[in-house]
Amino acid sequence: MRIRRIEQNDAEVCGKIWYEAHKAISFAHGYTSEPPSEEFGIGLIKSILGNPNSWGVLAERQDRIMGSIFLHRFPPSPVAVIGLLTVHPSAEGNGAGRKLMDAALFQARKQNHEQVRLVQSPSHIRSFVLYTKSGFTLREPLFLFQGQPLKGGTNACSNNIRHVRDDFDISLCNELCKSVIGFSRELELRKAKDQGIATIVERDGVMTGYAAGIGIGCHAVAKSNKDLKALIANASAILGPGFFVPARNRELMRWLLENGFLIGWPANLMTIGPYKEPLTPFLPSLAY
Ligand SMILES: CC(C)(COP(=O)(O)OP(=O)(O)OC[C@H]1O[C@@H](n2cnc3c(N)ncnc32)[C@H](O)[C@@H]1OP(=O)(O)O)[C@@H](O)C(=O)NCCC(=O)NCCS
Repeated sequence: MRIRRIEQNDAEVCGKIWYEAHKAISFAHGYTSEPPSEEFGIGLIKSILGNPNSWGVLAERQDRIMGSIFLHRFPPSPVAVIGLLTVHPSAEGNGAGRKLMDAALFQARKQNHEQVRLVQSPSHIRSFVLYTKSGFTLREPLFLFQGQPLKGGTNACSNNIRHVRDDFDISLCNELCKSVIGFSRELELRKAKDQGIATIVERDGVMTGYAAGIGIGCHAVAKSNKDLKALIANASAILGPGFFVPARNRELMRWLLENGFLIGWPANLMTIGPYKEPLTPFLPSLAY
């Protein structure tokens, strides 16, 4: 088995494998497939290959691609993220998953990333075993929530919401993020600001939370659940198939369920290296 860098012309095969592997798992457990179609899988892998902060390798045997893995950076965040690890169902059990993971963790160390994170699909025991054996610890069980923003339709959402406007707002968000999770997620926040989806919640003129969008690729941190609810309720849209909520946040989960949101699928946030337990409510992205 050979491990090598993924080239643009491998995207089609890798995208198909990603789709097929997830479809098989979702079907077996009665969930909607995470990648909605083969074309989506291929498109996503092509776009990852064009991202200078992403790195990917594949495993092949006798010129047949067995699977692939990606590692992503979000500078200046100290965290590296493993995303889209897939081995074709017919190639499972040959150690390809472990070899790909070893290669990605080696690359993370080369990049001086002490902290590595991923979001795992708990319905798949193979991946949980592989991640545990590779050194990951389960930190937060998550659920993907699906529904529509409530547009201030509950009294929990009376706080003032506005867009992130400038560098001063960004620095306020960074400070809050550092105090809650230990570091800032400025790259993602700036991207969300440029897309017009980053919002701030204020109470009595003081910033008490922000969301870099509400959706599967977005994160949010807040001083209280009231602030987080306001950010969710007033989002302009839920981006992608839904957003992840830490299952231990019973108050937020209950509020979402009472307001008509549905649970799409479960997930687990797993980490290697130092981990600061968030001190106040947060929403993780698909990455971390
Ligand atoms: C997850 C995935 C990448 C694993 O690939 P793989 O090549 O089968 O992985 P490996 O064989 O290297 O590792 C799996 C390990 O789980 C172990 N395992 C599997 N089922 C187990 C069980 N029920 N209890 C204990 N161990 C188990 C295997 O023995 C193996 O460990 P070993 O290498 O020490 O023997 C692959 O199954 C896949 O792509 N699945 C679908 C997509 C997916 O779930 N991706 C991850 C998203 S988070």
